[in-house]
Amino acid sequence: MSESQTIAVQVAAIEQVTPLIKHFTLAPLDGGNLPAFSGGSHIIVVMRGATRTFRNPYSLLSPPNRLEAYEIGVRRMEESRGGSHFLHDAVRVGTRLEIAHPVNLFPLDKIARKHVLIAGGIGITPFLAQLEDLHGGAVPYELHYSVRSPAHAAFLDRLRDREGERVRMYCDSAGEAIPFDALLSTQPLGTHVYVCGPEGLIRRVIDTAKASGWPGSHIHWEQFSVPPVGDAFDAFLAKSQRMVHVLPDQTLLEAIEAAGIDVPYLCRGGVCGFCHTRVTGLDGELIHNDHYLSDAEKSACKSIMPCVSRARGKSLVLDL
Ligand code: FES
Repeated sequence: MSESQTIAVQVAAIEQVTPLIKHFTLAPLDGGNLPAFSGGSHIIVVMRGATRTFRNPYSLLSPPNRLEAYEIGVRRMEESRGGSHFLHDAVRVGTRLEIAHPVNLFPLDKIARKHVLIAGGIGITPFLAQLEDLHGGAVPYELHYSVRSPAHAAFLDRLRDREGERVRMYCDSAGEAIPFDALLSTQPLGTHVYVCGPEGLIRRVIDTAKASGWPGSHIHWEQFSVPPVGDAFDAFLAKSQRMVHVLPDQTLLEAIEAAGIDVPYLCRGGVCGFCHTRVTGLDGELIHNDHYLSDAEKSACKSIMPCVSRARGKSLVLDL
């Protein structure tokens, strides 16, 4: 993915769907259709602010067969480095943005005999598009949706109207919780489980499914890391002979891009591995925030995923 592959869009509609989530509709500037996608896909939204450019991944929640516009849901993050605040505060109907082509890192398994979807909070968004793919098909499915309180249940009317009894809601405020053990120990052979939401929910589903004997290939999750803020640091790009300064609320990838150097990416969330960069010199430590490198690779300090990970110390040299 690089900047030359982006698509110009205009914000066609904005709706506040919960106290923290806004629903954006993005239509192509030149009319016509946007590229085809399947349920579970995400796009990168490029937001050019006065002094900074943000590039954040968001799942597509619109029906995959409706290509005249894309829809995304954006949660306002308390610890935002700026992207979600930009979308919530600075973007209006008519604002022009750029988006990258859709990529699916969270697809439904094509030979599953049943699908169990588990969402927490904003993690509902990829499932909205997947449900469009599943609805009316021959493979059974069910959705379990956990939220803080009824006010935080985004897109619930759409789900209930369409899916009825296939949707089970759980509100923390009412003391309700997904019965993980019962749910995951009673599924027919060939079932696949998918989870998207907070880290604790994802961990709980993976651990419970594995303890219940599920094969790893039948457990799917999507967990884009939100790049954390940290101390400023410098990185020397050996091939380019450039020094870049990474601000506390900037990612290493953003700092490299601001210097005019392209690094491939798909997710910008520490999942896909596309931004993998070799570390050729380090006096200090790497702060790995990705879900891609193994523990051994992280300990070896020879690689970094600059979309989410940082460094601390005297020097960092990259093979770029
Ligand atoms: S862009 Fe996907 S891991 Fe960095």
